[in-house]
Amino acid sequence: MKHIDIVNGPQNVSAVIQGCMRMPDLSKEDAAKVIRTAYDNGINFYDHATCYGADGAAESKFAEAFPLTGLKREDIFIQSKCGLCFDRNEFDWTKENILASVDDSLRRLKTEYLDTLLLHRPDVLYDPEEVAEAFDALEKAGKVHFFGVSNLVPMQIELLKKYVKQPLVINQVQLSLEQSQLIDQALYMNNKTTDYSVNRDGNALDYCRLMDITIQAWSPLQFGMFGGSFIDNPDFPELNRTLGEIAERENASKAAVAIAWILRHPAKMQAIIGSMNPEHIKDVCSASSVNISHHDWYALYLSAGKFLP
Ligand SMILES: NC(=O)c1ccc[n+]([C@@H]2O[C@H](COP(=O)([O-])OP(=O)(O)OC[C@H]3O[C@@H](n4cnc5c(N)ncnc54)[C@H](OP(=O)(O)O)[C@@H]3O)[C@@H](O)[C@H]2O)c1
Repeated sequence: MKHIDIVNGPQNVSAVIQGCMRMPDLSKEDAAKVIRTAYDNGINFYDHATCYGADGAAESKFAEAFPLTGLKREDIFIQSKCGLCFDRNEFDWTKENILASVDDSLRRLKTEYLDTLLLHRPDVLYDPEEVAEAFDALEKAGKVHFFGVSNLVPMQIELLKKYVKQPLVINQVQLSLEQSQLIDQALYMNNKTTDYSVNRDGNALDYCRLMDITIQAWSPLQFGMFGGSFIDNPDFPELNRTLGEIAERENASKAAVAIAWILRHPAKMQAIIGSMNPEHIKDVCSASSVNISHHDWYALYLSAGKFLP
């Protein structure tokens, strides 16, 4: 497993992250298998959010399972996110909600600190001064070591940075071979013939690279918002053919090649996998040893339905 140092953030973190969004329905034994299999295959970073499962069920299940893994808290990095309050149909970045959410996460996860806390999608009504006060309090209390955001465009990050003292070290955004807007718009720049040129994120990729903000790619195997996986999906024949050819050459799986496509990008991104199947987890962890050449990278991109402008 390849490891990276997040600038101004946690060091020596795995390039592949285990996402825990799908954990709530597992038994604690199966959840322990997921955590341990990920760890044994090089993953040391686990992603949570207060909204994964009713009442933070993913965090509770993780903590229930963790003692069965034989791991110690300091062996791993735990990240959580707050701000998405689906139970009350709103996004909430008030100081009160940020502080209460972190306390809830710590209680559910049975830990004294989060390695990283991300603000999930933006609360349109947020007051950056309140966010700054919340971050100061969390840092001072030792409850959060590093801070970041998820699904934010550059100007939103700039506005936050005007008030928040702590460096924002992560932006967690959607990226897969099929959902590649992060890459498309700059490549098709100014091209009126295609929707790929539409700038939907304010050049988040280049901005994050400029600002040393590590991109975490969520849903790296999915198409659409949560359309399902494109791996072995008959709706994506050309993509699966190219994935299959590279997979055979590299003695890896198609899923590992799809993750390797993200890790091959020079932005040094992390990819957050969501499988709860230990065989699949083991398999996709081999992604960091899959060789994706310059040509392979483009061949995969084009076989997902793109063209060179
Ligand atoms: N910040 C945000 O807004 C946001 C949004 C969504 C997700 N996330 C994070 O991203 C994580 C990953 O999201 P995701 O679950 O959509 O990611 P994903 O890894 O792209 O998709 C996982 C799905 O792909 C399936 N899959 C099919 N073939 C597979 C194969 N060969 N290997 C591995 N998986 C295969 C898995 O099924 P099996 O379980 O059967 O393997 C699982 O249902 C979440 O857990 C969460 O932490 C963040």
